[in-house]
Amino acid sequence: MSQPDIFYQPLKGESSGLPHDPFKSFVIPRPIGWISTTSQDGKDNLAPFSQFQNVSFDPPTILFIGHQDLYKKRSRDTVMNCIETNEFVWNMATYDQRENVNDTGKETWEDEFQEFNIKKAPSRLVRPPRVADSPVSFECRVHSIIRVSNEFHGKKTAGPHMVGNSDIVIGRVMGIHVKGEYITPDGLFDVLKAAPIARLGYRQYTYIDNVFEMTIPTMPDEGDVAATLSGSLTYDDSEAEDETESK
Ligand SMILES: Cc1cc2nc3c(=O)[nH]c(=O)nc-3n(C[C@H](O)[C@H](O)[C@H](O)COP(=O)(O)O)c2cc1C
Repeated sequence: MSQPDIFYQPLKGESSGLPHDPFKSFVIPRPIGWISTTSQDGKDNLAPFSQFQNVSFDPPTILFIGHQDLYKKRSRDTVMNCIETNEFVWNMATYDQRENVNDTGKETWEDEFQEFNIKKAPSRLVRPPRVADSPVSFECRVHSIIRVSNEFHGKKTAGPHMVGNSDIVIGRVMGIHVKGEYITPDGLFDVLKAAPIARLGYRQYTYIDNVFEMTIPTMPDEGDVAATLSGSLTYDDSEAEDETESK
């Protein structure tokens, strides 16, 4: 027999009535932003963020979201480093790396690369290192940081988590590394070989082990639109400001 339907209003302090808060299991799967940063005084940092997404692909822009750190009672080290240095690197997190990804979620004051024996590779344009074994890494400069304030924090109306203010860190993708072993003979990224992991709710994760294809319907005269959507449009950026000066 199925359970009764549920409606609840979190901002009124109502819960689902289920034994575990189901919210995180609805917007799924969330890809992992495995983010490396370097503090102003030179200490490297690596942490996973499942509140992570593309903002745009034209130009390539991504975001991740750091909540307040319950242990350190301030923003995550990753966010603090982004505020101080304006730089971060996104690394693809794969099924083979899952234990290390989880390890780096530990609250620590140390360099997680060193603490968990994760190999670094130098970046070209920014100071934070890459995860050497990740199939893909993006070198990013911070575009902006937006604070989503939890205005109910402290009034016991915000649910049980009390993670408080969240910082949306938006980054421009300045440089993209792709390991050749993950490029198929016909020039596609081999997603099944990479097997990226993603976060679900509770303690659940998933990884990509199948793909299917569909083509977005377009109007007959939408040549450029179709090319853009399929990723085959090249654009002339010779006038664009050169932001790729080395660090
Ligand atoms: C798979 C996974 C996903 C996570 N996603 C987030 C997230 O989206 N936002 C966040 O603030 N913390 C998230 N965490 C917790 C942080 O990774 C953890 O607090 C970490 O210690 C933060 O490191 P930092 O203080 O060095 O930045 C996640 C942890 C794991 C294991």
